[in-house]
Formats: sequence, structure tokens, C-alpha cells
Amino acid sequence: MPQQPSSFILSMTDGLPDRFDHHTTRYLSAMRGQFIDQKAYQERLTKEDPLLYDVFEIKLSEMPGELQHGVSVIHPGKVGDEYFMTKGHFHLVLDTAEVYYCLRGDGVMVMETPEGDWSVEEMHPGTVVYVPPRWAHRSVNVNLESDLVLFFVYPSNAGHDYGSIEQQGFRKLILDRDGRYEIVDNPNWLPPDLR
Ligand code: F6R
Ligand code: ZN
Repeated sequence: MPQQPSSFILSMTDGLPDRFDHHTTRYLSAMRGQFIDQKAYQERLTKEDPLLYDVFEIKLSEMPGELQHGVSVIHPGKVGDEYFMTKGHFHLVLDTAEVYYCLRGDGVMVMETPEGDWSVEEMHPGTVVYVPPRWAHRSVNVNLESDLVLFFVYPSNAGHDYGSIEQQGFRKLILDRDGRYEIVDNPNWLPPDLR
């Protein structure tokens, strides 16, 4: 059934929506294999299982033409030198794009095509990031003191392919070097000819 017109409010103080239908939580335990420092990952997990990010969504039908939208909140922290981040994914319908608007905090959007082209866009409050069709995307919180809060919009029929990027890895890692972020080659990245 087509959607009825609707609205909600994003708080001007914390960026959170005043209503949502769907709340997804991703804890450290759900991120096995995502962080480069496996030892640090395992050590942290034996002590605690922190919440890395929340996603609040307004539930819409997946009919082509609808636009799914909501807010993701990536909490501050690191595993080894690597900042807390989302899993990242390609859209299952590869030719679908996404727009992000940064409401709070400081971060980067790490993006990559199936051919291995890559891009890293900085995000601060007010930054709009366009993720073109075919680009996998991952949000990284590079501010250890604050949440990274992002509003996003994408076609409702896009779907999510987590498996491909999980298998090949993102080409670039975002690591903390003396209090600043650095873009570093992922030694485990599988180039297209080795997949
Ligand atoms: C939707 C989208 C975002 C992410 C969210 C969590 O296409 O890109 O809503 O789903 O930032 O990231 P993932 O889905 O990679 O765990
Ligand atoms: Zn997406």
C-alpha cells in the first residue's frame, strides 16, 4: 500500500527523532571479523559487549518510489586503533544511491565500488554526503567524545548486501594516530581479481 504523508521532528539538540517504528542495535559481538585488530576485539569482548550503534527508522513499504529514511547514531570508541563504525554494505539493488546529512559529531563516510575505487568524505554537523549508486558505504565516528548522528534517505527497495563487503573487506581503514584519524590501506583487502 502506498505511504500516507507523514512527518517527524529531529531534535535540534541531540539529532534524535521524536518518533520511529524500528530500532536496530548493533553490539560489538555482532561485528566479528570487521575490526583489523582481532586480538583487541577478542580481549574487549571477554570484558564487555558495548553498543556500537543504533539505527532508528520510520517503517515504510518497500515499494519502488518510496524513500526509506531515519537516523543512525554511532557511539564513540575504538577497538585497538580503529574507531567504532557501522558494518557497511552495498545495496542489494546495486544501482541505488543514498543521501546522508550529519546532525551531530564528527565522522567519515568510507565508500568503495565493486571495482575497488574508494572515497572517504569527512562529516561534521551540516555536511551532506551523496553515496552514488554502486558504492558500498560505512560510517565511522572519529570523535572519541561525542556520538555521530546521521540522517539518511535511500530508495525503499534498495535492500542490503552485507556479505560481499564483509568477504572482500573495505580497502581503507580509519585509524586513530595520536588523536587524529588516518586513512590506512587494509592489508586484508581482496582486490577484484582475487575474489
Ligand atoms: C541504509 C543505510 C543506513 C545504515 C546504517 C547502519 O541503506 O546505509 O541506514 O543501514 O547506517 O549501517 P549498517 O546497515 O551497515 O549496519
Ligand atoms: Zn545504505
